[in-house]
Amino acid sequence: MRPGTTLGDEVRLGNYVEVKNSSVGDRSKISHLSYVGDAEIGRDVNIGCGFVTCNSDGGPVKRRTVIEDGAFVGSASQAVAPVRLGAGCFVATGTTVTEDVPAGAMAISRGRQTTKAGYARKYAARRTAPKP
Ligand SMILES: CC(C)(COP(=O)(O)OP(=O)(O)OC[C@H]1O[C@@H](n2cnc3c(N)ncnc32)[C@H](O)[C@@H]1OP(=O)(O)O)[C@@H](O)C(=O)NCCC(=O)NCCS
Repeated sequence: MRPGTTLGDEVRLGNYVEVKNSSVGDRSKISHLSYVGDAEIGRDVNIGCGFVTCNSDGGPVKRRTVIEDGAFVGSASQAVAPVRLGAGCFVATGTTVTEDVPAGAMAISRGRQTTKAGYARKYAARRTAPKP
């Protein structure tokens, strides 16, 4: 925890979680591997593993992230501040949030998976083939 941080009751901060100049509301959880800077986090917010607030463009100005009550923020996601995640919203795993998310909405920004049958064997054969 760094300066300017306040925690509500029954907040959980897990391993490798850095919180700076932020408030975290009652019962909210930031359980693993996250950076939360210049943020206002409401009550009953659940933040998955590997969340980052992107609060700066490299200059001295820090921008704020607001995450309202009951939001669920999936793992490996980022909030590019200034941005607001509305009450009860859902951020999918692997999402970079660049626009406000309305209350109750889901934000998802990730490539759709393509699965290539048999390709693992193809590349294994290439790795073991003699060099020309
Ligand atoms: C978002 C999530 C809930 C989707 O799960 P799902 O219900 O199995 O996924 P679906 O394939 O039904 O997709 C849900 C919707 O998202 C859409 N979607 C899925 N992948 C997408 C993508 N890459 N880009 C845009 N939209 C996508 C689907 O089209 C669907 O919308 P539709 O109903 O209008 O068609 C899930 O992938 C997720 O991110 N869970 C969070 C897990 C997590 O991070 N937990 C934290 C640990 S504490």
